[in-house]
Amino acid sequence: MKRDSFGSRLGVLAAAAGSAIGLGNIWKFPYITGENGGAAFILIYLICIIIIGLPIMLSEFVVGRRGQLNAVGSFKKLAPGKPWWIAGFVGVLSSFIILTYYAVIAGWIFTYIIRAVTGQLIQVAPDNLATYFSDLISSPFEPIVLQFIVLSITAFIVIAGIKDGVEKYSKILMPILLVILIILAIRSVTLEGANKGLEFLFSPDFSSLTAAGILEALGHAFFSLSLGMGIIITYGSYINKNENLPTMALQVTIADTFIALMAGVVIFPAVFAYDFAADSGPSLIFITLPAVFKEMPLGGFFESLFFILIGIAALTSTISILEVVVAYVTEEFEISRKKATVLLTLIIFIISIANSLSFGVLSEFKIFGKTIFDLFDFIASNVLLATGGILISLFIGYVLGVDKALDEITNGGKIKFRYGKAYEIVVKYLAPISIAIILLNATGLLAV
Ligand code: PHE
Repeated sequence: MKRDSFGSRLGVLAAAAGSAIGLGNIWKFPYITGENGGAAFILIYLICIIIIGLPIMLSEFVVGRRGQLNAVGSFKKLAPGKPWWIAGFVGVLSSFIILTYYAVIAGWIFTYIIRAVTGQLIQVAPDNLATYFSDLISSPFEPIVLQFIVLSITAFIVIAGIKDGVEKYSKILMPILLVILIILAIRSVTLEGANKGLEFLFSPDFSSLTAAGILEALGHAFFSLSLGMGIIITYGSYINKNENLPTMALQVTIADTFIALMAGVVIFPAVFAYDFAADSGPSLIFITLPAVFKEMPLGGFFESLFFILIGIAALTSTISILEVVVAYVTEEFEISRKKATVLLTLIIFIISIANSLSFGVLSEFKIFGKTIFDLFDFIASNVLLATGGILISLFIGYVLGVDKALDEITNGGKIKFRYGKAYEIVVKYLAPISIAIILLNATGLLAV
């Protein structure tokens, strides 16, 4: 069976950037920045992105394009007879788990889109917004329906394949996302009092930075760039042999970081202009922001745009997550794409119901002191992602070998790459050690 592939360079970029740019950029990055005191945290985040995130992204592209298969198959092909495929399997597994709860949050977002566009959200009194949100997430019905819709749209696009599905829709959705983001950023920075928000974002106060904050920055760099879960490996396997991988990794990284910063520029100037708290955590966009929009002229319109923006960001990410699992199952078990997608989506949907209910009827059901949702999030984003990241860097550093990686990176010597030595230091030492520290800290084996 001939493998599908991306049709154009722009298509790969749109799809990979679409995966990277997601709830992590627009929902999580702003709120963890708020909790960790602003600019100093951003600076640390940028350093993590450049010295660890970018080289690991390049490494994942290398494994995928050299292996020409899904995340597991690529490792099997590059290290036959050795257990390194487990590195890919960790990725597939974390993708699978992440989708079961990512879909829950995406479902809330889609509900907010509907309620914003129909003008219901803007009518809620600011004091009632917290209850309004908790009523939604604890309900046993509505979030699950919306979750199902999100997963169905995702499945529909993945079934269509790489060129006619993932690439086609990413190329439509990503420019829309960018335009909406620019409109919202302009609106936000032109509000009176906006500069306090910009200062919060761009003038660092290092006293608010903690060791835990630094680890959070590195962990988030991973999540935000979609690393450690086989996504970039899978997309890498659909990339043409003549493409310039370092340029591509750099462009995706820049796009992801730019959008996260822009999300901050949309959110904080508005939050500060109307005197709301920047450190309200995960509910920042669901509770604080609707109150902010209520104060703003034409707030209902901007609010709708904002939730559509996050909805798009979430969807291009769910597509990539599902693609990893589908690519694995179709290639390793020789099942058709359509069958694999439908089956996997159903299983993911069923598990996602438990995740959703853990905000309502199952909120008292705890394993190791965590709700199901928190447990899944912990296992996937704190344990598996980091494990995948360590394994991929060790694989390049010590199994495939930096020489072979550089051969792939330079397309067999055809393109220049001046950072070979730095790359080697990162994959052999810097990345595995620093990611291991995050992992030990997250699992409580090392306390910072
Ligand atoms: N990178 C995406 C984001 O920032 C999240 C994501 C996680 C995407 C896992 C794909 C897989 O939201």
